[in-house]
Amino acid sequence: MLKPREAVLAVPLYHPPLAGREGLRLDFNENTVGCSPRVLERLRGLDPEQLVKYPERGPAEAAVAGFLGVPSDEVLLTNGVDEAIHLLCETYLEADDEAVIVVPTYSMYRIYAMATGARVVEVAAGEDFAFPAETLIERVSGRTRLICVANPNNPPGSVASREDLLRIARSAPDAALLVDEAYYEFYGQTMLGAWRELPNVYVARTFSKAYGMAGLRLGVLAGDAEQMKSVRRVASPYNVNAVALGCVPEAIADQGYVEGYVAEVREGRERLKKALGVYGIRFWPSQANFILMRVGLTKTDSAKFVEQMRRRGMLVRDRSSDHGCEGCVRITLGPKEHVDRMLAALQEVVEELGIAQGASPR
Ligand SMILES: Cc1ncc(COP(=O)(O)O)c(C=O)c1O
Repeated sequence: MLKPREAVLAVPLYHPPLAGREGLRLDFNENTVGCSPRVLERLRGLDPEQLVKYPERGPAEAAVAGFLGVPSDEVLLTNGVDEAIHLLCETYLEADDEAVIVVPTYSMYRIYAMATGARVVEVAAGEDFAFPAETLIERVSGRTRLICVANPNNPPGSVASREDLLRIARSAPDAALLVDEAYYEFYGQTMLGAWRELPNVYVARTFSKAYGMAGLRLGVLAGDAEQMKSVRRVASPYNVNAVALGCVPEAIADQGYVEGYVAEVREGRERLKKALGVYGIRFWPSQANFILMRVGLTKTDSAKFVEQMRRRGMLVRDRSSDHGCEGCVRITLGPKEHVDRMLAALQEVVEELGIAQGASPR
């Protein structure tokens, strides 16, 4: 009988929502409004010829490199950051190598790493999800070939300092260090260009979050030009579709749109923090477009909360299964009108479930 590789069978199942996300989508950290009107205009005016031809990545890649202020040979456009992670796993991990991740974090690092047959080494975040730089460095072994750090991290929204990231890259020269900056626009600090000094550093960015283009699947992997040559070997030549490529120049040209959206999200973040403070609900300060909060002590509590929010038309994400996140829920922020609606629903749910709790233990 046909049998998948053992490593594939060991990969934990990830259940993305593939249908039926009805309501205000505050569950997957997307832009809750949409993309720049300039992108929409470009979409309407796309030449049908673009759909007939295999997509040509070059010009869009050069435009993105120019925008990031790095040469084109340091940049690869990808099918979302997800593909960037996948490509790094394919490039560096042999079976029985080690990939080091911090937990809790974004699920796909583990999934792609495990699929190669590599062992995933989990380093638990510190108190209040602090970045565990020391422990991570201690856990790097002679077999470590990949280290993935989401900065800001998802779901807690916490960050790693530049010094810590550089220290890690220096202490593990035989491992690729992926700094996943999917939420960069909400944070504002980057490791872009760090590979000039430390060629094992990679940075990933996405158009799925602040730019509001998750459906187009467009990400960026940037790193040392020599190292990128190996990554390109395993990438599909047509990994990014023509529609996404056609829209990129407009998306990066309209920074006013992105900045306006980010400013609204930051305001919403402050309003939610304030409301949670009033209810006495424990939360963790976030540098991204979401906040992780503890709405109870168990998975049942968080499931009830998610269901009550859903009944009020708000989709929020239960994170109870993540390391250190029992009873926790993550809510994505958007512009004022969406935050107004979310806060109104939150107030009702807090009252209905009686979850105003004072500071709860982590
Ligand atoms: C840290 C992190 N990286 C990557 C992604 C996925 O990005 P993309 O849509 O570009 O594949 C997410 C999405 O939630 C994320 O939280």
